[in-house]
Amino acid sequence: MTSPHARRDFGSFHSSNVEELLAVPVSEWRRLLPFPDPAEAFFISGAAHQCDASTLKATHFFLEEEFTFINHGAFGAVLRPVMAQATAWREHMEGQPVRFVDRRFFLHYVDVVRQMATFVDCDPRGLVLVPNATTAINTVVRGLVDRGLRRVIHLNVTYGATMKLLRSLESVEMHQIDVTMPIVSREELMAGLERQVKDLYDSVTEGGTTLFLIDAIPSNLPVVLPLKDLISMAKTVCGEGLLTLVDGAHLLLQTDLRINTIGADFVACNCHKWLCGAKGSAFLYVAEPHRQHMRPLVASHGYLSGFSSAFAWTGLQDVGAYLSLDAALAFWRRMGPPAVRVRLHGLLDEATSLLTSSWRTSLPVPIDLLATMALVELPRIDTATLRRHVSSYGVNRDAFDSCADDVRVGELPEGDGMGRVYEYADAESVQNYLYWAEGIEVPAKSLQGCLYVRISVHVYNCLDDYRRLADAVAKLYWRCEALRRKDGDP
Ligand SMILES: Cc1ncc(COP(=O)(O)O)c(C=O)c1O
Repeated sequence: MTSPHARRDFGSFHSSNVEELLAVPVSEWRRLLPFPDPAEAFFISGAAHQCDASTLKATHFFLEEEFTFINHGAFGAVLRPVMAQATAWREHMEGQPVRFVDRRFFLHYVDVVRQMATFVDCDPRGLVLVPNATTAINTVVRGLVDRGLRRVIHLNVTYGATMKLLRSLESVEMHQIDVTMPIVSREELMAGLERQVKDLYDSVTEGGTTLFLIDAIPSNLPVVLPLKDLISMAKTVCGEGLLTLVDGAHLLLQTDLRINTIGADFVACNCHKWLCGAKGSAFLYVAEPHRQHMRPLVASHGYLSGFSSAFAWTGLQDVGAYLSLDAALAFWRRMGPPAVRVRLHGLLDEATSLLTSSWRTSLPVPIDLLATMALVELPRIDTATLRRHVSSYGVNRDAFDSCADDVRVGELPEGDGMGRVYEYADAESVQNYLYWAEGIEVPAKSLQGCLYVRISVHVYNCLDDYRRLADAVAKLYWRCEALRRKDGDP
């Protein structure tokens, strides 16, 4: 395959010029797959979004059938067609490695960038592929620090790893605004955030660049923040000079991300999460005025040859994950992203209703502000007892088995009045118990002294997954009550 745009690009690559390829009009561009697409074999015809979850799980994912996997939000799960295409790319590349890297790779890279830019509605010249959202966030923050960043406004629910990055920036002031639970409505949430941004901006000293870092769907308090409104409110309050970085690690597929309409300066998105791309696929979008200054963390041949070129080549690496985004996008286009979102939100609604009614608890965020993840409050489990019998490495089966007959799995009380304040280790013990004793992968969290599980729904999940969770937690509650008596506690 040759390109009409072929010529020597940066370094010694006898390739097509990355910047020029990105400027080719859509009407003149065609998909450039150099082999019969193995992903085609997986495509479902007809009303694909209606395909049932267990069939999809068995045929389109690698997930173990016996494990109840309701933690897609952690590290995603790749689609089989994507993995098949990633493997095909790796094998194709190794057929003639020099030809591929030296003369072909940039064409394919640009092809995927263009497809992704169409999917999220942005200028492909502003979108670059990176291995993960962490790299994208580090790239922006460190790049801005080099250019004199003065302060960062961030949410109290900022992703833990990002907080470590922020805390390491000695010369930058940090200002936190809080998303507090329970969230009652979108209006109240926005009003609270606006009040805090105003108070904060009144109190900061003049001058210097301010970055507002927004976790669009925070991982420890999943709520779909109204991005466009939030950015426009912050720019109105703080002035157009305010820069905004959207941490969109969870955005793709969960929401219909239209980058051109949200008004952000920088957007970092994972493709290996909800889009089910191969691990090591993500992108960074940079709005036009910032592209000339934004450099990758690693300087290589493309450095100083333009924004896109600098990121397209940061050294030789396995590019299977990037190039197989082609298959991920094709898969969701055929499934129909709006239909998939309706299906997932419907399942989340059913699952959360089932869990809250079974545990007699509530959701800290209204269902209409959720997409595919939810925090659900757990019943007031006696975790002091649980912690004696469960660790990261397993459960004391003898203890749990010994109280099996004793256990009455009945209706849970609405709150036992014991006034427990839960902490990290309590949540960890619940999570470990569910993993070891019940084969359920779900994160448990302690937030503001209460215990929650964060459930995820994806196309391979069905209501039975959440029924198993509901029953397992009810059993755990009663087992802890029985064990406490056995252990001689009051
Ligand atoms: C909100 C948020 N931001 C950033 C990340 C980091 O993603 P990655 O490890 O793929 O870089 C995550 C991962 O779960 C996340 O939840």
